[in-house]
Amino acid sequence: MRWKRSHLAYAKAKLTDLAFALLRPDVQARENTLATGGNEFDHKDFSDPISSEKGGEPGTFHLDRRSDESYMLRRANMVLRKGVVILKAQGLFGTLGIVLRRLIPHRLACYEDCRQFFHGRIGLEIGGPSGIFKWNGLFPIYTVADRIDNCNFSNNTTWEGHIAEGATFKFDKRRVPGNQYVDEATNLGRITSASYDFVLSSHTLEHIANPLKALSEWIRVLKEDGLLVLVIPHKDGAFDHRRPVTSLAHLIEDFEQQTTEADLTHLDEILELHDLTKDTGEGDFESFKRRSRQNLENRCLHHHVFDTSLAVELTHYAGLQIFAVEVVKPNNIVILAKKPVQGRGVRNERFRAVDTTPCWQSPFPSDQRPPICSTIFSPQVSVR
Ligand SMILES: C[S@@+](CC[C@H](N)C(=O)[O-])C[C@H]1O[C@@H](n2cnc3c(N)ncnc32)[C@H](O)[C@@H]1O
Repeated sequence: MRWKRSHLAYAKAKLTDLAFALLRPDVQARENTLATGGNEFDHKDFSDPISSEKGGEPGTFHLDRRSDESYMLRRANMVLRKGVVILKAQGLFGTLGIVLRRLIPHRLACYEDCRQFFHGRIGLEIGGPSGIFKWNGLFPIYTVADRIDNCNFSNNTTWEGHIAEGATFKFDKRRVPGNQYVDEATNLGRITSASYDFVLSSHTLEHIANPLKALSEWIRVLKEDGLLVLVIPHKDGAFDHRRPVTSLAHLIEDFEQQTTEADLTHLDEILELHDLTKDTGEGDFESFKRRSRQNLENRCLHHHVFDTSLAVELTHYAGLQIFAVEVVKPNNIVILAKKPVQGRGVRNERFRAVDTTPCWQSPFPSDQRPPICSTIFSPQVSVR
């Protein structure tokens, strides 16, 4: 009997070790991005409950927790809950796709061609860190760049938890942390113009009420020939799929009327058409409504709804030279664009499909409609 007990204890210890190994924070960090390059599923609900509670840094935890069985149970419970929500949101095949994408790292087609650009360079991310830029993401540049600073709107966000200003932005284990700014993405006043080689933004622009104002700031802090990597959720793969695509005219109006982050123009539409079953960060409709009304504090709303054509048109209007557009399931529109040298025009026709079909391909049904590009809106140097 004693023999059996000791074997049982041994088996239990081994299982705990195995669970611990499976739920290591680096693995968890990957899970938090759902192999989507980081996105709307990436809510704090699913961040490390222990480290957040104990005031540790989100995403880190300590080896002495190995013996904490309740921690492991809560961890397992959290992963299970997340699995169920993903399954509900993505269906069986979508979930299998996510698992496969995680097991077999997949890169954007343009990655190999442009990774050299990031080598030893300094960049600024808005609303990072992001799974898409991590070593196993679609566009893994955290491991290549020299330093990446970050800007977020608050000291405490739904996605990142507590954020401290200073050299605290840990984008890669092997790099010195970048400088963390707590500022609005639309007002980078503390950063001098032309100071970064690249700017990154993943699943952030749609949370900003005045995207052209944000873009104009990001372009200002970019050096000439500097690169903007813009990742925007495609409506077909997000909880926005019932909402109409925003028009470029509306985004221009927001810019001209200096719309602020307090804007709730789209609230009624969101409350009516938001697909809560695809939003893993929220509970029932009442709490979603409460959270949405407090958007100035939490910034969870998607003010605007994008398809690929709108993302391309917006980038063109901002005066950037696009050189790659890739649209990847489950919901990523990725645009790589350069800030042109002063006085040089941009040629984005092949992406905008002015005379022909656009050169980018898309797995999303709403991208199959004719593109919205229009010659009425030409690039605005004033936006820069
Ligand atoms: C959906 S999360 C995306 C997180 C991460 N980039 C990813 O891809 O997983 C949106 C991010 O943008 C930040 N954000 C939203 N509005 C912002 C604003 N006006 N200024 C700065 N950051 C903002 C949020 O705090 C959060 O970090």
